[in-house]
Amino acid sequence: MACPAAALLLLPLLLGLLAPAPARATDPYAAFDWDVSYVTRSPLGVPQKVIAINKEFPGPVVNVTTNYNVAVNVLNSLDEPLLITWDGIQQRKNCWQDGVLGTNCPIPPGWNWTYNFQVKDQIGSFFYFPPLSMQRAAGGFGGITVNNRAVISVPFDTPDGDVRLFIGDWYNKNHTDLRKMLDDGKELGMPDGVLMNGKGPYRYNDSLVPAGIEYETIDVEPGKTYRFRVHNVGVSTSLNLRIQGHNMAMVETEGSYTMKQNFTNLDIHVGQSYSFLVTMDQNASSDYYIVASARFVNESLWTRVTGVAILHYSNSKGKASGPLPDPPNDEYDKSFSMNQARSIRMNVTTGAARPNPQGSFHYGEINVTQVYKLRNMPPVTINGKRRTTLNGISYSPPATPLRLADLYDKKEVYTLDFPTMPSDGPPAIGSSVINSTYKNFMEIVFQNNDTKVQTYHIDGYAFWVVGMDYGEWKNESRSTYNKWDGVSRCTTQCSPEHGPPSCCRSTARGSGTCARRIWTPGTSARRRTSGWWILTEATT
Ligand SMILES: *[C@@H]1O[C@H](CO)[C@@H](O)[C@H](O)[C@H]1NC(C)=O
Ligand SMILES: *[C@@H]1O[C@H](CO)[C@@H](O)[C@H](O)[C@H]1NC(C)=O
Ligand SMILES: *[C@@H]1O[C@H](CO)[C@@H](O)[C@H](O)[C@H]1NC(C)=O
Ligand SMILES: *[C@@H]1O[C@H](CO)[C@@H](O)[C@H](O)[C@H]1NC(C)=O
Ligand SMILES: *[C@@H]1O[C@H](CO)[C@@H](O)[C@H](O)[C@H]1NC(C)=O
Ligand SMILES: *[C@@H]1O[C@H](CO)[C@@H](O)[C@H](O)[C@H]1NC(C)=O
Ligand SMILES: *[C@@H]1O[C@H](CO)[C@@H](O)[C@H](O)[C@H]1NC(C)=O
Ligand SMILES: *[C@@H]1O[C@H](CO)[C@@H](O)[C@H](O)[C@H]1NC(C)=O
Ligand SMILES: *[C@@H]1O[C@H](CO)[C@@H](O)[C@H](O)[C@H]1NC(C)=O
Ligand SMILES: *[C@@H]1O[C@H](CO)[C@@H](O)[C@H](O)[C@H]1NC(C)=O
Ligand SMILES: *[C@@H]1O[C@H](CO)[C@@H](O)[C@H](O)[C@H]1NC(C)=O
Ligand SMILES: *[C@@H]1O[C@H](CO)[C@@H](O)[C@H](O)[C@H]1NC(C)=O
Repeated sequence: MACPAAALLLLPLLLGLLAPAPARATDPYAAFDWDVSYVTRSPLGVPQKVIAINKEFPGPVVNVTTNYNVAVNVLNSLDEPLLITWDGIQQRKNCWQDGVLGTNCPIPPGWNWTYNFQVKDQIGSFFYFPPLSMQRAAGGFGGITVNNRAVISVPFDTPDGDVRLFIGDWYNKNHTDLRKMLDDGKELGMPDGVLMNGKGPYRYNDSLVPAGIEYETIDVEPGKTYRFRVHNVGVSTSLNLRIQGHNMAMVETEGSYTMKQNFTNLDIHVGQSYSFLVTMDQNASSDYYIVASARFVNESLWTRVTGVAILHYSNSKGKASGPLPDPPNDEYDKSFSMNQARSIRMNVTTGAARPNPQGSFHYGEINVTQVYKLRNMPPVTINGKRRTTLNGISYSPPATPLRLADLYDKKEVYTLDFPTMPSDGPPAIGSSVINSTYKNFMEIVFQNNDTKVQTYHIDGYAFWVVGMDYGEWKNESRSTYNKWDGVSRCTTQCSPEHGPPSCCRSTARGSGTCARRIWTPGTSARRRTSGWWILTEATT
């Protein structure tokens, strides 16, 4: 039953036996054929192999409408196993297709496999990516748009256009070299730059950006309003996004409509997605900069970790020039980033595909039955490899995929003893799994004991972010929870520390609707070094 080949043969068979409710025939189908292969690109001037889909880097957008049945036939033309995961897409009907190691076996090189799933009860902006082996550091990502059905209204006027923006840190070393560094117990160090839609920075300063780099240009018409869907697809760098001279009105994040609010800049952490409405209300005296710069770092050392694209009005009178718009200055407002994040709230009066599985927004009244406090520490070296831990455990996927082990009752493959609270014991490697009860509600506290920002992603899953603060989480912290209009999303940051080491918390609540979920903290690329674990129901 080990991955990949044997299990691959098994999977379709099992699916046939287990498939829960089959997709309704009346729901439309959308089919895609993807060839995932290396192409050579030089985003920062250095030629390297990047992962493209149908030769596109970033990959094509999966543009579908809620209730669609989606079939993506993926041919792996890489030289190593491949999985594609669908980010916040909640696969209620088919937990075998989420592209996470443990429930899906990787597609061996030269093989193809078709992901079949239904996008349901969701409207919004997401992205897909290859979660294994640092592949995301080489590309393989692209957008997912889930549109509303015609009967469901959206809380803003239909924009004049849709603009996709992938921002993310980038290394000139390829992903196999990066992987080797981690396996040798080394840090990756400062990235070589930030890409925007797979391209390097506009040459805003001759001494900082070399000549000959291809940059991204967003063409717009004056007076029109565009929906920018922005995703941080990077490895580990939090980025601050800003568009010179323009307000960004946030309207959606990871499938939740937010209270519309203008930002002049926003911190977008690794794995997060946002939609902004941007009106072209400036006078086009020149082009404008779109900037994504590294956050919570020493900016005088990290100048190269800055992405710059160009916003070009059709009536623009010239090129963008001069300094970039300023990043936020935290020196006098250390809570800037956290206050910004706390201000993002759900629009509870707007319709949604289906607000939550219980059919209610009133998550604050739901009785929590399980509480987990998960603490990550700075990375440690275990068996010579650089790894991070959660509650002292660094997850190691067993040779038999968890989902199969569970199905065949092979309990010796994993343990159901994931600690509910942090412990001060020595870090260990384990295949330890959270024992959760189907359809119960959990409260999860993420306690970041590192000195760097961490993001947590719950794959294929949305949870309410009910609170966020610095310092050690305590029972009393619950009195500060937002029990009314927190956003439901799939990735949250545990915010950064300013000055001396401190820790912060962020809290999430969720419910188990799909039989089993793998929960992945941190970024996909870091996942290799992070603990990650699975949530199972108690019916095993
Ligand atoms: C990455 O670069 C190394 C040399 O530094 C090379 O041996 C390896 O084949 C490259 N991998 C890919 C996927 O390009
Ligand atoms: C995505 O699909 C919707 C609904 O079919 C369509 O209106 C829209 O133009 C498409 N968007 C893009 C960018 O193709
Ligand atoms: C592989 O691709 C072929 C050709 O597109 C298709 O007929 C077949 O169903 C695919 N196999 C799987 C397992 O998806
Ligand atoms: C919230 O949604 C309602 C209903 O769609 C809409 O009219 C209103 O403008 C939205 N409020 C904000 C602040 O976005
Ligand atoms: C370019 O960047 C360098 C180094 O930060 C700075 O000294 C110089 O003033 C900048 N040039 C312009 C034209 O802004
Ligand atoms: C937000 O920005 C838009 C476009 O710049 C502007 O028209 C609107 O008045 C702003 N709204 C608020 C509440 O500041
Ligand atoms: C256009 O806007 C810029 C920046 O706000 C301003 O400096 C300039 O004078 C304006 N030009 C015209 C023609 O209004
Ligand atoms: C940032 O780095 C510069 C150059 O090494 C150093 O002089 C400066 O003290 C650093 N700033 C902070 C806040 O650490
Ligand atoms: C939560 O538990 C209380 C006390 O047992 C009960 O009165 C209440 O109805 C429960 N709330 C929900 C949403 O089930
Ligand atoms: C926090 O609450 C839990 C469960 O209600 C309880 O077991 C624990 O003793 C409390 N801790 C403190 C410090 O009060
Ligand atoms: C990590 O946790 C320990 C124990 O709770 C605490 O003493 C220490 O200050 C924390 N460190 C950071 C950087 O948060
Ligand atoms: C898992 O949880 C269920 C329900 O709470 C319990 O009956 C079962 O004993 C637990 N399993 C283990 C191995 O702890």
